This record gives sequence, structure tokens and C-alpha cells, in this order.
Amino acid sequence: MTDIDGNAVAAEIRAGVADCVETLQAEGVDPALATVLMSDDPASETYVSMKQNDCEEVGMRGIHVDVDDDAPAEELYDTVEELNADDEVHGILVQMPVVDQVDTRRVLRSVDPAKDVDGFHPENVGRLVAGNPRFKPCTPHGIQRLLASADVDPEGKEAVVVGRSDIVGKPMANLLFGRGEGGNATTTVCHSRTEDLASHTRRADIVVAAAGIPEFITADMVSEGATVIDVGINRVERDGESTLVGDVAYDEVREKASAITPVPGGVGPMTRAMLLYNTVTAASEQHGVEIELP
Ligand code: GUN
Repeated sequence: MTDIDGNAVAAEIRAGVADCVETLQAEGVDPALATVLMSDDPASETYVSMKQNDCEEVGMRGIHVDVDDDAPAEELYDTVEELNADDEVHGILVQMPVVDQVDTRRVLRSVDPAKDVDGFHPENVGRLVAGNPRFKPCTPHGIQRLLASADVDPEGKEAVVVGRSDIVGKPMANLLFGRGEGGNATTTVCHSRTEDLASHTRRADIVVAAAGIPEFITADMVSEGATVIDVGINRVERDGESTLVGDVAYDEVREKASAITPVPGGVGPMTRAMLLYNTVTAASEQHGVEIELP
């Protein structure tokens, strides 16, 4: 069994992104990512501040806009419009989920597709599905890179994605069955209504667990030698203490898997690294400056 070290792979990508930032700056382009938060969820606050720290690490300008979670939804829509109009902002990320008074679809539609470094705008979702992505969504793209780092080529293999979210499950499936490097897998998407989930996951060479249920994937559900990718980040109480677990029962599944991602230190750092990657891509496209992406 091999642990797939997301921290190490993400550090390599950040180093490559830092080189791209230097190239852009030498050409007079100062790449910038704007994060927007309209939520009182402490986990979201943490994720956004980690994303801002990442910007600093690679020498990229990071701008953060906090919208009061009691404010009317218009404040969020207006913020996005201002960032769309700002030529010095190249990437925009609105942290999900947003507060209830906001229409999530409207926000996703309102981000300029050229700055939509999450890849959530309907135009960018359409391009991904059509096999011509502008920005690959960060988590699934990071997972493709993790598989490559473990020498797991999905081509011709059975991949099972557990979860059908817009952020992970759907784009992950598209990348896995799509043409090109890191794709060409025979891909099944399972979800909360799937009957006999284990009959699908046991068939899989690659399992991507993105159901949002703590330790949902147990050892009896995976085949010997499978590659297991755990997207879950679940806070649970254990022996009176709060701890983070994934969607995979790590200790028992790692005995059967040939490679597995830990939580934390697996998928999470990759999601953030690919956000930086998409931001330098956006800056490069907006200004016609060529960069060598990592
Ligand atoms: N919330 C959880 N994951 C993500 C993500 O990748 N992007 C955004 N914007 N919000 C999220």
C-alpha cells in the first residue's frame, strides 16, 4: 500500500506556478486571485484564508472580499460585478456554499467565464462536458494529477465515482471518461439512490469517494489492489475530541488498496494548488502572455 502524498505533489505544482507568476510579472502582468466569502461557516472561513496564504506563497496577489452574511444578496452580486470589471483581477472564486438569501445559480452565472477559476460557470461546465475545458475544476483536476503521480493511468480501467455533486462528482466523471491524458476510463457514477453500491465499488480499479459521509467506504467495498481517492473532509467527535476523517475508512481500506490518499494531506492541498494553476492560466489567457504550466 502506498499513501499518495498530496502535500508533496501540491508543493511541486506551487513551485511551478511560482515560476509562472515570475514570467507574467516580467511581462508586466501581476496575476491576482480574488476570493469572496458570504457565509458564517467557520470551515469556509478557514478554506478561504488557506487559499489566500497559498497566493502569498507563490508570489501572487490575493484579494479577499468578505460580504456580511446578513446583507442582501445584491451585495454579493455587486461585488462579483466589480471584480469582473477590474482588469487587475484575473481569477474570481466565490466560496461555496453561500448564505440562503443568495441564489447560487445566479452567482455562478455572474462570474466572468474568463475569470471563473473554479470552472463552475455554465459556459465552462459546457466546455468541460464538450471535451474542451477552459478551466478544469480544481478538485477533480487535482485528483487527475494525484493519480498520475502514483503512476495510475485511468485509460481502459474501471473508475467508480461515489457522489454526483456539481463541484466534484460530475466534473470528476467527465474527466475520467473523457478523452486525453488522465481520462479514457470506463466510468460509473454512484449516488445516494444507487442500489447495492458495493457491487459497483468492488468492480473498480479506481474509487473516488465524494459522498460527504464519514468513513462511508469500508474495506469490504473495495477490491484488492484498488486505488482509492478520498475527497471527504468530515469533522466528527471521537473519544470526546473533534477530529477530521474522510469518506473512506482509512485504516481498514489501506490494507487492501494499492494506493490511497490520506485525510488530511491528500486531495485538499491539490484542490488549492490547482486553483493557483487556474489563476495563472487565466492571467496568461487574458493578456496573451505565454507561460509554462507545471
Ligand atoms: N466549496 C467547497 N469546495 C469548493 C471549491 O472548490 N470552490 C468553491 N468556490 N467553493 C467550494
